[in-house]
Amino acid sequence: MIMDKEILINEMKEIFHQVPYGIEHTLRVLGYAEEIMDGENVNEYQREISSIVAIFHDIGAIEAQRKYGSMEGTYQEKEGPPIARRILEELGCDSRIIDRCCFIIGNHHTPSRIDGIDFQIQWEADLIDNLKYTDIQMDRETLGRYIDDNFKTGTAKKIAYRELMDKASEDIH
Ligand SMILES: [Fe+2]
Repeated sequence: MIMDKEILINEMKEIFHQVPYGIEHTLRVLGYAEEIMDGENVNEYQREISSIVAIFHDIGAIEAQRKYGSMEGTYQEKEGPPIARRILEELGCDSRIIDRCCFIIGNHHTPSRIDGIDFQIQWEADLIDNLKYTDIQMDRETLGRYIDDNFKTGTAKKIAYRELMDKASEDIH
């Protein structure tokens, strides 16, 4: 990465300092994003963007809670980009990269806006972790179909099967 990953992670940790789950979730999402990038044909430019996005994707949650009393997706999408932009500008990040990261952060709960592999990777990494910490009411067959329908990259599908299949309910038939 061109940007210093540790500095970005520390900025994220500072914002989430009262919400340890936010830090843990973000670091897991970053880990999945890196694993997907390792397995897919991702160039350095896309890798830089997906890494920054993974670290800052939920950064608007605290401000959303403060302003609207809710961490709901649409509020996070609204509050995240200006915070990410301020941090990235201060750190001297390239403006094209900032714009792209802010677009993805500002739409990261809206899969219909996915328009590139960098956004796709963020969507998949976040979805894996969110499903992992949700009660999944699907049998293995239905979960398998869900994974095939909702994940596009082969690497994310593989990770989803690995991380989620144990959570499927007992087969009823
Ligand atoms: Fe997230």
